[in-house]
Amino acid sequence: MEIWNQEQINSFRATLLAWYDQEGRGQLPWRLNHDPYRVLVSEIMLQQTRVETVIEYFNRFMAALPTVETLAQADEATVLKLWEGLGYYSRARNLQRAAQYVVNNLQGQWPNSSDDLQELPGVGPYTAAAVASICFDEVVPAVDGNQYRVFGRLLKIDADISQPKSRKIFYNAIAPIVDPKRPGDFNQAIMDLGSTYMKASNPDTLNSPVKEYNAAYRDGVEDKYPVKTKRVKPRKELWQAQVVYNEAGDLLFEKRPATGLLSDFWTFPLRKIDKIDDLDGQQLTIKPVVHIFTHRRWEIWLVAVKAPTKLAINQRYLSSEEWQALSLPKVQHKLLTKLHEVTDVSE
Ligand code: ADE
Repeated sequence: MEIWNQEQINSFRATLLAWYDQEGRGQLPWRLNHDPYRVLVSEIMLQQTRVETVIEYFNRFMAALPTVETLAQADEATVLKLWEGLGYYSRARNLQRAAQYVVNNLQGQWPNSSDDLQELPGVGPYTAAAVASICFDEVVPAVDGNQYRVFGRLLKIDADISQPKSRKIFYNAIAPIVDPKRPGDFNQAIMDLGSTYMKASNPDTLNSPVKEYNAAYRDGVEDKYPVKTKRVKPRKELWQAQVVYNEAGDLLFEKRPATGLLSDFWTFPLRKIDKIDDLDGQQLTIKPVVHIFTHRRWEIWLVAVKAPTKLAINQRYLSSEEWQALSLPKVQHKLLTKLHEVTDVSE
């Protein structure tokens, strides 16, 4: 990862903000002033929706409900109608609850730090940082997908953005770069950069105002950043779980090997099969129990099988008191629940 010295940081800020002042989208309706109500509404709308779509919704919303008080007092149906077509309606409900909280609990005074803003319903770290920097000049990066992409490339940050713990790495890398005089404009300039010259696909780095600061471009590895591991689909496997009772009504359990999935846990005897036709007992359910591990998807069929003539060394019959006293893996709990559903055995 690249670490910039103070001189580089200063010149980056100057270059970025000069470009933003000239060519940024300063005319977007939520940028016309720094009213926290307008800015919060816009940020919530922009969470899952494109800028071009949001503009019209935002203007309509502000015409109908121009202040936090009007939103707090509106009928929910009115709010949902204004949101119709934007989707993710819980955003609208949370937004109204946030407005009610500000009006009823805070006497209409907005929380003015990113920490306090996160107390509002539906406001996470990104949204709180965006509002705090834009409205209250808090010097804090608004870390979202845009900032991952832009700074992932500029600084060649190797942290995997699909891992939640990477957020802190990005935050710490970006925080010293945020312009302390214009933090809100800085964050919004990065958004504009991320939707123009530094898009996810087909970026136009050659013409980017911050080309000279782009370490990934300089090294010819721009397509490697931001780093995102592909999630491999868990491989599907078919299993049978053998259900065996002894005369006392105890169930047969088997201790799993010391290595591999479910190591050392007690489960029903589990046998991998190639196809459903290979089930070698009486099938007890119409649908399998599904359990997903990181790299495997197990579809497990419960089958009633004949009791073995001799128990293997890792097998025991356990009464319900005995197995309830053990720490069983989640998948075994699912199997027991399913078994009780189909056999009506009450414990
Ligand atoms: N996306 C999220 N917040 C935004 C903002 N304030 N301006 C433009 N795009 C955004």
